[in-house]
Amino acid sequence: MKNIGILGSGVVATTLAGGFIKNGYKVCLGTGHPEKLSDWKAQQGANATVGSFADAASFGDLLVLAVKGDAAVKVLESASKNNIEGKTIIDTTNPIEPAPPANGVLKFFTSLNESLMEGLQKAFPGVNFVKAFNSVGAPLMINPDFNGIKPSMFICGNNQQAKTEVAAINALFGFDTEDMGAAEAARAIEPLCILWCITGFTTGKWDGHAFKLLKK
Ligand SMILES: NC(=O)c1ccc[n+]([C@@H]2O[C@H](COP(=O)([O-])OP(=O)(O)OC[C@H]3O[C@@H](n4cnc5c(N)ncnc54)[C@H](OP(=O)(O)O)[C@@H]3O)[C@@H](O)[C@H]2O)c1
Repeated sequence: MKNIGILGSGVVATTLAGGFIKNGYKVCLGTGHPEKLSDWKAQQGANATVGSFADAASFGDLLVLAVKGDAAVKVLESASKNNIEGKTIIDTTNPIEPAPPANGVLKFFTSLNESLMEGLQKAFPGVNFVKAFNSVGAPLMINPDFNGIKPSMFICGNNQQAKTEVAAINALFGFDTEDMGAAEAARAIEPLCILWCITGFTTGKWDGHAFKLLKK
């Protein structure tokens, strides 16, 4: 079983870590502030460790990037090229601006013709980024209950083997994978976060909706 390195200490990082640990994986969370995670680590038991971004990247055979979008490049640099080269990185990030949303609509620092993940793929060409888990809220990331209906997990990336690996994790966590193609598809997948969040901002409910692609 692969070891999982998660770059991040927020709700996405700890939620996905919990999902992996529940399924028997060993997880190392990477952070610039390990003290934030001492209670979390104590609750999780022997399969959870906490270290620097470089420690988590070195530990993981498979990595998850779960940091603020505008910190993604800096965090990957501090994880160190040697620790991430050749690995699959599940990219959960969104390019959200610090500005407040307008009528529930978040602002992005990217344009519709260039996504955050494409920028990461260009900056770290030896890494196999796969966009996933960016457009569903953390409370719904692990085996969400929609009366037997599995939500869609839209993914994209340039490496087919990496996407196959991520599709297996999506299935483990209760999602149907919808592979939208190469990295450019992140231009469409990242803004799904804006759409998903509108419902949250306008209703105050963040744990009851997810996307499903209907097909016939
Ligand atoms: N919240 C959700 O439900 C949700 C759902 C889907 C996708 N996402 C996306 O997933 C990502 C993580 O979201 P989140 O809500 O879990 O956490 P977050 O608050 O967006 O990010 C927290 C992480 O970002 C790191 N970070 C922030 N500023 C930094 C800086 N200047 N330099 C280095 N590291 C920095 C923090 O580092 P330290 O560990 O050192 O504090 C921490 O690990 C985001 O891109 C978000 O858009 C969120």
